[in-house]
Amino acid sequence: MQDFDLYVPTHIVFGKDRISGLKDAVAPYGKNVLLTYGGGSIKKIGLYDKVIEQLKDFNVFELSGIEPNPKITSVREGVRICKDQKIDVVLAVGGGSVIDASKNICCGAYYEGDPWDLVLDCSKVKKALPLITVLTLSATGSEYDCSAVISNSETNEKLPLFGTGILEPKVSFCDPQYTFSVPRSQTIAGAADIMSHTFETYLVKEGNVLSDAMCEGMLKTVIKYTKIAIEDPDNYEARAQLMMVSSFGCNGLLAIGRTPSPWVCHGIEHEISAYTDITHGYGLAIITPHWMSYSLTEDTVDRFAQYGINVFDIDKNLDKMEIAKLAIAKTSEFFKSIGLPQTLSELGVTSEHFEDMADHMLSHWMPVETAIRPIDKAAIIKILNDSL
Ligand code: NZQ
Ligand code: ZN
Repeated sequence: MQDFDLYVPTHIVFGKDRISGLKDAVAPYGKNVLLTYGGGSIKKIGLYDKVIEQLKDFNVFELSGIEPNPKITSVREGVRICKDQKIDVVLAVGGGSVIDASKNICCGAYYEGDPWDLVLDCSKVKKALPLITVLTLSATGSEYDCSAVISNSETNEKLPLFGTGILEPKVSFCDPQYTFSVPRSQTIAGAADIMSHTFETYLVKEGNVLSDAMCEGMLKTVIKYTKIAIEDPDNYEARAQLMMVSSFGCNGLLAIGRTPSPWVCHGIEHEISAYTDITHGYGLAIITPHWMSYSLTEDTVDRFAQYGINVFDIDKNLDKMEIAKLAIAKTSEFFKSIGLPQTLSELGVTSEHFEDMADHMLSHWMPVETAIRPIDKAAIIKILNDSL
């Protein structure tokens, strides 16, 4: 059993119409609220009006247009509003991109320099405005963790921002009804993202009975309910199951007592997104089976075989290596069956920047030697080429 730290101070308010508690959740933090959102989906589903109704006794300022793979330029604008208007609390309404940008805004509000500095050096994150979120897309787990991912188009970088004990939302409202309108394209991207968060944690050198079972439960939930959600987008139970598992992907709960993981697929995907702005979940769905194939060896076969037996019900009497290979094939098949892209080429990605991506990942990402099968530059380029 490995030592671990787990600190997740967010209050999750989950269920139908719980937005009625928003006013009381915001009130303790002050009157000046910065409402952040994306390109307009919250207006189409009537959520914007519900939020404004809750905030009628507050001074509300707005930052809209936060883009998928949120850009530092949006963060800078949010920080400017916070400083100019003496904002007391930030309310993020949207998916992971809106929540992530808002986290950088919250800590940028207390920082004298450019908020990108905080992404480049997270030790500078000392203090942040309180953040409250209303989640509209099940995917990243940003509603229940201390991290964000911010892109800088000028430098072709997409990097994580961490702030344990500082950047976690105070309260996250998770009403599955707000995800009925999520289009198929984003529902499947979200499914791939939730599964990837789980694989990154599950497929490590050493696990334990409890966290293995949690990971396997996460995977089985996504496999079962994504198909229902894409066929019947207003199915509350399916949307609720996906929303629940999305929140547990990134906050460390799944990782308790396990050996560390350097989240290799995420490291590679962020490099691709930094250059090409592809959808996060698409990149992960393409890379993951190739990373799994690279990682499968005689030393790691037990873990992959366990995955195959416990998640896909593969016959445990088969040869272990055969079970492991079948499990990887079934992972690809599932991604394909829900309509996820299979190759980077389909998304217009070429090998032009693969060398730069591998170099950048190795100098800016977590130590990849701790992966279930250690990774080096050649391995990153192999996984990228296999994914083309
Ligand atoms: O901008 P709007 O109009 O809101 O439209 C969004 C956007 O176009 C739309 N959408 C969201 N909710 C909707 C909806 N459309 C209809 N109905 C709704 N209810 O979906 C599109 C994508 O939204 P986005 O927020 O970008 O998606 P997601 O939640 O998947 O976030 C992706 C970002 O999160 C980062 C990713 O790298 C990427 O930048 N991640 C953040 C993590 C974290 N903070 O812990 C971890 C993840 O691994 C991930 O890296
Ligand atoms: Zn992710």
